[in-house]
Formats: sequence, C-alpha cells, structure tokens
Amino acid sequence: MHRLRNKRILLGITGGIAAYKSAELVRALSGAGSQVRVVMTAGAQEFITPLTLQALSANPVHHSLLDPEAEAGMGHIELAKWADYILIAPASANFISRLAAGAADDLLTTLCLASVAPLAIAPAMNQAMWLDPATQANIEKIQRLKAIQIWGPDAGQQACGDVGPGRMIEPLALAQTLAQQFENQSLSGKTVMITAGPTREALDPVRYISNHSSGKMGFALATAAMEAGAHVILIAGPVNLATPDRVDRVNIASAQQMLDAVQQHLPQCDVFIGAAAVADYRAADVATQKIKKHDDDMCIRLVKNPDIIATVAASADKPFTVGFAAETQDVLAYARGKLVKKNLDMIIANDVSNPEIGFNSEDNAIIIIDAASQTPFPRATKYYLAQQIINTISNKL
Ligand code: PMT
Repeated sequence: MHRLRNKRILLGITGGIAAYKSAELVRALSGAGSQVRVVMTAGAQEFITPLTLQALSANPVHHSLLDPEAEAGMGHIELAKWADYILIAPASANFISRLAAGAADDLLTTLCLASVAPLAIAPAMNQAMWLDPATQANIEKIQRLKAIQIWGPDAGQQACGDVGPGRMIEPLALAQTLAQQFENQSLSGKTVMITAGPTREALDPVRYISNHSSGKMGFALATAAMEAGAHVILIAGPVNLATPDRVDRVNIASAQQMLDAVQQHLPQCDVFIGAAAVADYRAADVATQKIKKHDDDMCIRLVKNPDIIATVAASADKPFTVGFAAETQDVLAYARGKLVKKNLDMIIANDVSNPEIGFNSEDNAIIIIDAASQTPFPRATKYYLAQQIINTISNKL
C-alpha cells in the first residue's frame, strides 16, 4: 500500500448499490497517502452523497461536465491531466456500455476519453446483467480498444438476493490491486530527501557569505526522483527556481537551518542526496547592526559549520547516502577521499573548474563513484544526469 503514497487517484463512482463501499475505498486510498479526487455520475448520487466523499477525500467532488465553478477550478481537461490512475468503482452495466461506445455525455465518460492515464474498472451489477452477452461484449471491446483493466467482479450473495458474479471487489482489495500498478516505478514507496542550492551565512543584517550554486542540479534530482515514484523532500537554500511538481519543499538559508530541516525529516527518509553547496564556515559572531566602514582592512573570524551529510551518514538508521564532490583538481582522488571520510554509499564527482558545467549552468559532467566502481557521464543536461543518478541509486537499493 505504501506505493500509493503521493499518487493522484481519480475515483469514478457510478450508480449502483455498491457505491456505498466507495466511501471505504476513498478512506483506504487517502489513508495510504494518495491524493484522491472523486467524480460521480448522476446515478451514483442516488446511492451516496457527494458530501460524504468530499469529507473523506478532503477535496471537492466533481459531477457536472458543464459546472461553471468546476471549469474555473479543476475543469475536465485539467482533471484528466492531473490523474496518475483512474479507477471506476463501482462500474455499472450502463457505464460500461457508454465507455465501450466512446460516449462523452457526462463528466466521467469525458474524463475517460480525455485522459491518457491508465484506467481500471471494478464492475458491480446483478449477476444476470453481468453474464448477459451485451455486457460481456462491451467488456471485451473496452479491453481490446483501450487496454482497460477489469478488476472483478466477485461472486457471491448479491444485494438483490441473487447469487453469482457481480459483487464489487472489496475496497481494501481494490486499493491493494491499485498499489501493485505502481510497482514498476523504481522508487515507488521510497522517501528521498535532497539538499539543493547554496547556504547563506550572515555577517550582519544585510551581508552574508555564500557561493554560486543555483540549485539546478538538486532540483533536477528532485524531479527525477519524483518521476521514479518517490516521495521527495527538497531542502532548498535561497534559489530562484520553481518547486518541481509534487515535491515537498522546505526553504532554509544557513547551514545550521539546513541541518535542522534535514534532521527533522531524517526518520522517514530512505535515500539522502546532498547536492547543496553548503558553506564550510560561518562567521563566529554575527553583528546585530550593519557593520560600519572604518579601517582599510578588516578580519572576519570564521568557525566551521556542521557537516550535514556526515551527520546523516552517522545516524543510527542511516539512509542510502549520496554526496556530491565539487572539485577543481584531482577530482577522482578528492571525491574518493570524501566517500570514505564521510561514510557515504555513493558520491557524484563534478569538475567545477570548467565554468560551462557545474555551478550555475544548465549542464554538468559527472562521475558516479562507489566503493567498487566509477562510471563517467560526459557533459549533458542536469536533468538527464539526474535521471542517470536516480537509476543508479534505485538499482543499488
Ligand atoms: O546548484 P548548481 O548551480 O546546479 O550546481 C551544482 C553543484 C555544483 C553545486 C553540485 O553539483 C555539487 O557539486 N554540490 C556539492 C557542492 C559541495 O559543496 O561540494 P563539497 O565537496 O564541498 O561537499 C561534499 C559533500 O558534503 C556534498 O554532498 C555537500 O552537500 C556536503 N556538505 C558539505 C559541507 C557541509 N558543511 N555539509 C555538507 O553536507
């Protein structure tokens, strides 16, 4: 079920007595960490109220194709694009026939046509209706046309008193089947924490020590990890970048603040990647007022900052810990030294003496190093290299 964490599930509910079980399904999906949006047909609303599902999903329930309010917020195309997976449960005989016909005469059928997300239905109806050749032909057609998955129905005692196939699969079993659909995502169910950007070490209220890190490498890693199915926590220094979709971002300024944020989220973390350029030193004393200009020269006494990644690697329940080594000479030797000294599982070396790669540029060139191997990746975009790093990490886990 952990694979459902952070997934966007669009749950369609159609008219049938099993609609009451959808409330339990929404609870199971939300409880597993999914974001759930519910779309109801007119028939479904005869069996269960939108208010119940709104309360359980913590999101407005959608039911009208031409609702002007919905169009302003989550319109049908927006909803269609939002979904990672569409599950229709229960799916009535009437809905299945409209799906097979390619109908777009209400919100739910339109969404099924407009979305490229994978789609599963959990049929629920009277056993004779399920066994009817017309329903069976519709089932065969939707599987052939759109590779729609059909989950169930179960057989047994029905609400109408009949016995036979037509019961909706139980909500928990549906949620578990849905979770299995995300198994092929290499980091599904994992939490990855990434530090990115520079830190700022204050000298006085208006001045600070920092570096040229733009955060691009760390943000590209956050995107690649999210796309591999991970829940991503991005601890970001002061950078001018938009938060990648579905990534939880924590903004910090100084190395001490970065350490505090990292330690707060460490217990839930499976992988830690330190892409931030953390200032090694900070001012021993931060002036409370703006420092005035007096002499021709001045000295600022610096003290060492805590080593964030070494702290992570020394923790009792150490996550898979990946560092970066920004070097201007003897890249391999220095990177290997940091791998050992900081007790890391892997380190990414980048030669930052070349101004076209590394700090504050679109591209990078890296060597992925662990105790047993070193694999160079020539110059490429940071996003491409981030994907290679994430692939390498997931292969090691
Ligand atoms: O942000 P961009 O403009 O995209 O640039 C990307 C980058 C060049 C900053 C990035 O690819 C990179 O190399 N980041 C690490 C920079 C760095 O500080 O390297 P380092 O060799 O000094 O540190 C080694 C490792 O220890 C790093 O994982 C660093 O995050 C970590 N560290 C360092 C000092 C400290 N006090 N705490 C730490 O956790």
